[in-house]
Amino acid sequence: MHARVVATLAALALATAALVSPTSDARAGEVGKPRVIAHRGASAYAPENTLASIDKAAKLGFTWVENDVQRTKDGELVVIHDDSLQRTTNVEDVFPGRAPWKVKDFTGAEIARLDAGGWFSPAYAGTRVPTLKEYMRRVEHNHESLLLEIKNPQLYPGIEQQTLKLLGNEGWLDRRHLGRLVVQSFSADSVRTVHELKPALTTAFLGAPSEAQLPQYARFCDLVNPSYGSLSAGYVAAVHTVDGPHGRPLRVFAWTVNDAATARKVAGYGVDGIITNKPDVVRAALGSG
Ligand code: G3P
Ligand code: CA
Repeated sequence: MHARVVATLAALALATAALVSPTSDARAGEVGKPRVIAHRGASAYAPENTLASIDKAAKLGFTWVENDVQRTKDGELVVIHDDSLQRTTNVEDVFPGRAPWKVKDFTGAEIARLDAGGWFSPAYAGTRVPTLKEYMRRVEHNHESLLLEIKNPQLYPGIEQQTLKLLGNEGWLDRRHLGRLVVQSFSADSVRTVHELKPALTTAFLGAPSEAQLPQYARFCDLVNPSYGSLSAGYVAAVHTVDGPHGRPLRVFAWTVNDAATARKVAGYGVDGIITNKPDVVRAALGSG
């Protein structure tokens, strides 16, 4: 074929790709190899849920990162996994009399004083617990996409609405950004609330509802994200037979897979995404990223 014809066809293919629905990236993983999602950032290599961990994911060449969102005593949304500050910060040293050091019992200003990196490695000493606002700005800066988990929503009434408000204020609820965002929770009620507040958003339930329950979940979530240990090829196939709230088959992102053999096994079940602390290991195992 003439070189100019080839170039024209290639340009047409690119243009077609650019014209697909703005939700296409959030739907990625539907065909071919599973999407690889850096769990709490590239958390095997940098302190989890910090800006350093999503910078590390970007540096390794990964687009999708996962995080956990909770709320401070004075109503600030922050990115941290546990409901206590104890494991991932130096809170015991800074506030020795405040056990059990719950996130919800500390103000944003107090949490901003904590070191969220020294526990992981001296190289990361001084790293902070990011606010969600800071985090979203870094995700944007890095051109990343986000699997945002609303963590422990039962502790934070109204956190769904508050999270969506912040996302909207930061420009993350427009058509272009919706393709780069999935909101998930272990709480079905929380996922349902998010779906009802912003039906265009892609949502995921963390867990493995029975096959009989899937149609109920499909009213408000686009993905079912189970622990990999609870998966089988039959279950993944069953999930794929049910259409979600946007009229497309439900998808499955499995967590948390940190070794090559498990990555290959879970990919063989037909999952659409793999959530991992070691995205480079999963990519090397599957030849995808
Ligand atoms: O994204 C899946 C995974 O994050 C759920 O478990 O405890 O790491 O938040 P956890
Ligand atoms: Ca999580």
